[in-house]
Amino acid sequence: MIDKYTEARDLVHKYLNKNSVNEFLTDGPRHGANYYTQEYLDRMYTLSDKYKNVQWLPLDIPKIEINYEEFIEIWDKQCHDVVRVRSDVAEPWTKEEHPLGPLSSWNIPTFSGLHLYHTDLLSIDHNSFASKMYTGKIPMFERLVDQVFTYFPMHTVISIFIWESQRLVYPHRDRSDYWKCPTEFRVMLHDENPESTLFVADTQTREPVFIDLPEDTNSFCRSNGKMVHGSVYKGKRKFILCLAGIQHSKKSDELFERSLNKYKDQLNYKL
Ligand SMILES: [Fe+2]
Repeated sequence: MIDKYTEARDLVHKYLNKNSVNEFLTDGPRHGANYYTQEYLDRMYTLSDKYKNVQWLPLDIPKIEINYEEFIEIWDKQCHDVVRVRSDVAEPWTKEEHPLGPLSSWNIPTFSGLHLYHTDLLSIDHNSFASKMYTGKIPMFERLVDQVFTYFPMHTVISIFIWESQRLVYPHRDRSDYWKCPTEFRVMLHDENPESTLFVADTQTREPVFIDLPEDTNSFCRSNGKMVHGSVYKGKRKFILCLAGIQHSKKSDELFERSLNKYKDQLNYKL
């Protein structure tokens, strides 16, 4: 059987051969962001340079845990298919033009999902993917939202949602900022895979590195600029809490410093 490194490497090569890296910004703000001040951009370029060697990083944040039995009962009733509803910089084709045709993200859901929080500043329909807000009130989800607001270095949280992989995830970038430093914050809420299936790959070396979390945290970050990310799929359930928003440069700097101090000797790549 093909090992996961070979599988991931093959996916990354296929993706990068098909898509010119130059089509994306690899060190800059998100596409069409005209709301960032020059001062913010300057601070982010500094941060981007300072942490450009970080491929992924466990975060010095207390482990975020759920009662899985309680969770799965709600999830299996409430979650929905996450299909694409608009093209974006990551997949700029309409439903009709998409090179994968009937197999594209417009038609085949890669994830099941559920939103726990969405800002009043933007409509949830603005998302590239179909999104559904959980409207019930349960302490477990309220606690998750609270923990995100408490621990993560965000200036503005746009949304907090959980996605469960349903198949392999082709390497890609998200519709987000493209700094070289970590830009994306995630929590591995529950993973039944005996070993990590989630990987990042530097667009220059193209070498996949799996997100192997230490025991004492399930929060991590990765760059959406210099790295693409994807996932192999082994038929096991895996739930990731995702966070979208505007990152806070100073709080990010503090968290990256602290996390590097704590985890730099446990990384599975060379800094
Ligand atoms: Fe993604």
